Amino acid sequence: MIIAVDGPAASGKGTIARALAKHYKLPYLDTGLLYRAVALNVARMGLDPESEADSVAACDFDDAMMTDPALRDDDIGALASIVSAHPLVRAALMQRQKRFAAQEGGAILDGRDIGTVIAPDADAKLFVKATPNIRAQRRHAELQARGGTASKDRVLADIRARDARDSGRSTAPLVMAADAALLDTSFLSIEASVQRAVALVEAQRAKKAAV
Ligand code: CDP
Ligand code: CDP
Repeated sequence: MIIAVDGPAASGKGTIARALAKHYKLPYLDTGLLYRAVALNVARMGLDPESEADSVAACDFDDAMMTDPALRDDDIGALASIVSAHPLVRAALMQRQKRFAAQEGGAILDGRDIGTVIAPDADAKLFVKATPNIRAQRRHAELQARGGTASKDRVLADIRARDARDSGRSTAPLVMAADAALLDTSFLSIEASVQRAVALVEAQRAKKAAV
């Protein structure tokens, strides 16, 4: 079984995907980390994120990079959304994601283009959303817990800028797949979001089994 989970920043897709991975005992890949690794490489190598050639040069990283705590920084998220708009960066990371999705026994991946590009034939697809204000609130709380000092307004502005960039790019924009189920977590607890996600996955599997 392949499960695709997409959605904008702080919608809850990672929390939901991790819980689904546990529930269905599937290996899980947070594809945002791949783009964040490229972004961190660009920053550390002093390259230009707006340059496609520079960003492609930063796509060569080893697995140790994927566990670097700096990947979680908000400025790396913003940088990731710049480098991820380059078609050649997306192409460089594509096989790795497709291989993960196609492994025996299935997999669950979360990101922006899993249901549309990486695993268009996924058995279940979720598109997770929440209002920009609520997402900013969540990100702000996370930042504060880590000792960050950015204001809520700053976080909201960053989220809006990232949404616009991710949805507006021409290659693999953030868009809900036609056959995805929508899950709005704005007014749902984590537990309720996960419960709803399992119900939506089960409904999609039942529908597929019936045809
Ligand atoms: O966790 P959060 O939603 O804040 O970000 P992320 O999933 O780690 O993704 C960081 C950035 O990488 C996003 O803003 C996207 O621009 C990019 N990304 C993408 O283009 N395609 C994906 N499948 C995953 C992430
Ligand atoms: O992966 P993504 O950036 O979409 O979001 P996340 O990291 O799963 O969730 C962002 C924050 O929202 C985390 O601190 C979650 O615990 C929280 N969250 C929440 O408060 N309520 C939900 N229904 C889902 C997530």
